[in-house]
Amino acid sequence: MTESAVGASPLSADGLQPSPPPVDAGAGEAAEEILVLDFGGQYSQLIARRIRECGVFAELLPHDTDLERIRARRPAGLVLSGGPASVYSEGAPALRPELLELGIPVLGICYGMQAMVHSLGGRVEAADAGEFGRTDLSLADGGGRLLADLPAEQQCWMSHRDSVFEPPPGFVALASSPGSPVAACESTERRLYGIQFHPEVVHTPYGTRILDRFLREIAGCEATWSPESVIDDQVERIRAQVGGAGVICGLSGGVDSATAAALVHRAVGDQLTCVLVDHGLMRKNEAQQVVEAFRGLGARLIHVSASERFLDRLAGVDDPERKRMIIGEEFIRVFEEEARKLPDVRFLVQGTLYSDVIESGGDGRSADTIKSHHNVGGLPEDLGLELVEPLRMLFKDEVRAVASELDLSDRIVWRQPFPGPGLAIRIVGGEVSAERLEILREADAILQEEVRAAGLYRELWQSFCVLPVVRSVGVQGDGRTYAYPIVIRAVTSQDAMTADWARLPYDLLERVSARIINEVPHVNRVALDVSSKPPATIEWE
Ligand code: XMP
Repeated sequence: MTESAVGASPLSADGLQPSPPPVDAGAGEAAEEILVLDFGGQYSQLIARRIRECGVFAELLPHDTDLERIRARRPAGLVLSGGPASVYSEGAPALRPELLELGIPVLGICYGMQAMVHSLGGRVEAADAGEFGRTDLSLADGGGRLLADLPAEQQCWMSHRDSVFEPPPGFVALASSPGSPVAACESTERRLYGIQFHPEVVHTPYGTRILDRFLREIAGCEATWSPESVIDDQVERIRAQVGGAGVICGLSGGVDSATAAALVHRAVGDQLTCVLVDHGLMRKNEAQQVVEAFRGLGARLIHVSASERFLDRLAGVDDPERKRMIIGEEFIRVFEEEARKLPDVRFLVQGTLYSDVIESGGDGRSADTIKSHHNVGGLPEDLGLELVEPLRMLFKDEVRAVASELDLSDRIVWRQPFPGPGLAIRIVGGEVSAERLEILREADAILQEEVRAAGLYRELWQSFCVLPVVRSVGVQGDGRTYAYPIVIRAVTSQDAMTADWARLPYDLLERVSARIINEVPHVNRVALDVSSKPPATIEWE
């Protein structure tokens, strides 16, 4: 998910100088951290998130990350993730034996365990059948060190075809399952641990306890990582990066840019100027809420009401890509005009998230791969600004926790994603006009209000209205009407890559439909979009 897809700064990284490589600056030099080496498993990110939930900073790195870089980080421990390969197949991602000789504890999960066992002389082979999903696990040897004090019989979540049949010499088998003779093993002497199942998924009830044991008792972590510690750490880093120079940040109403700006404001106060380019395409009252929030924080804020400029340029345009381009260009023009008025601005704040960094195939080493296709536009190179990206190491839920800690309002903290070009790409098949925007904004406000009142707002990834520019016949009072339909689009999703249409309760739909038709002029029909992504997309344009 891109920064601007959540309504944050619609600036791309193109043409900007990236901030110093943050990969070697994860949690701060003195702070403890765990490195998760990614062997391609579908849960690798989740492992890092769970470790952080236990209070220890964890970063995901490719499995072939340079050894020197790993050593230089001086991690408290390593975790080897799962992955789809078979250890004995050609081209399988190799586990370098040196990684097991660093003198720090290593936990192999699924493929990570098999790779460890294989490289140390244990036996890994294809089993008669794989194990997928909930599986019974029986502990042996009292669970050894890693699984001590856990029930002798428990459930776990498995996802593997190969199994470990014999642990390496010097290892003790700690558990078995119907399809895994060795479902966990350890060598306390060598500080090497392996589990076949996935402790990071909720279907392994003792998973968090196992991770926590590895982190605290085995790797000796103190577990001090928290939203508060992130704030302290980032405040220091931001001060060190920007010194006494001016900083500018584009606010959009989304949680990412708001949190990034609030962090920078905490660090350097009035050196930061926030710019809200109000293109007139936001949801009802959204610009006002952002203005109030930042004025409340005591931050300098320039609110540029530029809706006429945007509407003038959008007149007569109905092609979605043209709309996006025009909005992007105009946004930059306005932003640039404001930036040039400020003396000594050398830095630009961006709310890039860790998932953007990972999704771009990056591991944080380089900022120039940040995905920008959904961003509205790029900032011209001649502004020559250096990026400040205080959220670069954070997952979305961590950003929300930091935002809350920074006293941003719940409205902003829990804001659903909103596209940079805003309501313009929800007026479909016709030009964007002031009247149509007004209709869509009012209908959308009713939907938001009712969804919130039903307690569903946080459960939905996005919920919004679309205005197709067609008219249909209706009857109101004694007369016929010829008016627009409004389409309700509500989806559940993890990351916007796929999405399912939300099964909104009928009584909620009934209320929304009745209110929209009664309260919003020029609408006589409400429809519900029941398409998932793929094959549909979340937005209509
Ligand atoms: P689609 O419609 O491709 O959307 O399923 C996936 C996510 O991206 C958002 N989106 C955009 N965000 N500029 C943005 O900043 C855009 O042009 C844009 N188009 C789609 C969409 O809201 C969803 O969260």
